[in-house]
Amino acid sequence: GLLATGCGAVSAETSGQTLTSALPLPRPFTVPLPIPAQARPVRPGHYEVVQRQARMEIVPGTSTEVWGFDGTFPGPTFRLRRASPVTVRVRNRLPVPTSTHLHGGVTPPGSDGYPTDLVVGEGHVFRPPTGGHAHHGAAAGASGWTLHQGFRDYAYPLDQPAATLWYHDHRMDFTAPQVWRGLAGFAIVEDDEEDALPLPGGERDVPLMICDRAFAEDGSFRYPSKDPGLLESPGVEDAYMEGVEGDVILVNGAPWPVLEVSATRYRLRLLNASNARRYRLRLTPGGRFTQIGSDAGLLAAPVTHEAITIAPGERFDVVVDFSAHPVGTDVTMVNTLGSGRTRDVMRFRVARRAREDATVPARLAGSAPAGPALRPASATTRRFDFRRTGQGAGAAWTINGVPFRPGTPLARPRLGSTEVWRLTSDFHHPVHVHLAHFQVLSRNGRAPAATDGGWKDTVDVRPYETVDVLVRFEGFRGRYMMHCHNLEHEDMAMMADFEVV
Ligand code: C2O
Ligand code: CU
Repeated sequence: GLLATGCGAVSAETSGQTLTSALPLPRPFTVPLPIPAQARPVRPGHYEVVQRQARMEIVPGTSTEVWGFDGTFPGPTFRLRRASPVTVRVRNRLPVPTSTHLHGGVTPPGSDGYPTDLVVGEGHVFRPPTGGHAHHGAAAGASGWTLHQGFRDYAYPLDQPAATLWYHDHRMDFTAPQVWRGLAGFAIVEDDEEDALPLPGGERDVPLMICDRAFAEDGSFRYPSKDPGLLESPGVEDAYMEGVEGDVILVNGAPWPVLEVSATRYRLRLLNASNARRYRLRLTPGGRFTQIGSDAGLLAAPVTHEAITIAPGERFDVVVDFSAHPVGTDVTMVNTLGSGRTRDVMRFRVARRAREDATVPARLAGSAPAGPALRPASATTRRFDFRRTGQGAGAAWTINGVPFRPGTPLARPRLGSTEVWRLTSDFHHPVHVHLAHFQVLSRNGRAPAATDGGWKDTVDVRPYETVDVLVRFEGFRGRYMMHCHNLEHEDMAMMADFEVV
């Protein structure tokens, strides 16, 4: 392993430690790919979702309890319009408090899903922690918590270009186990500029939420909580300091699914919603990904990749042309960072010929950056070092040496400004910035990777790497966070406030 942390071997390419499932698993590529239902407004501009427990058949023949938005995993897909504001009433019927974050959203601070701004489940009480091992939230103090009983309304102005966003739980100290149980879904923003492009649409526009899980013998999700019987037990076993991975790869909540496709182009919205696992995706026996969009929207022009490395939180909007294969071909999306079962992701079965009505134009979004970002001659530069500190029970994941302190910003960028943020790390840390989108300027002083293009909100910072990003602060003033999107690292306090002033 690259890092010997005393917690078992971690290779240079994976970022967590894998839990093994204790029940018979299906043969890969036998379960049909589910497409999450579309959320319907209760009246124009207003949605309501209920977070609740439900049972789903994820592994055929077994029942798994999920915690889902509307009782499904993934939650419903929101199809939203640029500059058409919506409110979403989130009702919590779970035994735990929740906070919902629209990842990639340009959202006012009060609706951004701050970890101590909680919706307490109907009929439940929540007492903010005052201390105790792994209760980083205790640092918020008694006055640092906002509690909404039963439900709250989140406001999303959506003044941002077409993009594949997603939403998930963000509760202080417990994001990882709550997302693992199912609290995540897609939110797709559309706009006129994208509508005018001849890209694949309808059934040929497929969101793919990729994540890994492990299952116990009784079908429940395995998660290495110190006391799995206690919902309020924070954190994970020290052995999982690197992050939790499962041995089952799910796409849209189904294990290694299969999708029948026509021999035409498809738009695939790839999202890595895993807690800790990174993937390097390839198509076999062949095929390429034509990237049309990144985290925060369309690229200026398409870029073709043989393989895409996707870290937790990242999205890649790609077009794959299945007409390159004869009818009857199985095209498998594999993860070359995986081994054994985690090498397979999903399969596309080219089932029929069909009329092609889409192309990928040479020019996509006029508003997107046309090339690599230029380093401004004068811009505030800040450094954020993502690193593990301490040993044993005192070990923590920190930013600039400090664990998350709610209400204590590490930076105060000005609204309307652009800054250079230099991100350094000791491990794989997918760094996510709320509110502000950024462009990758350089990796270790060299040009960014071909897959780093466009506006992003999450960047995969690799071990001992220095990644410079150009961050644009637009939209709102107020308190936001940046953090590692390895959700176990996030829960182990690798998070910081910044305040846009
Ligand atoms: Cu997707 Cu702060 O997270
Ligand atoms: Cu991390």
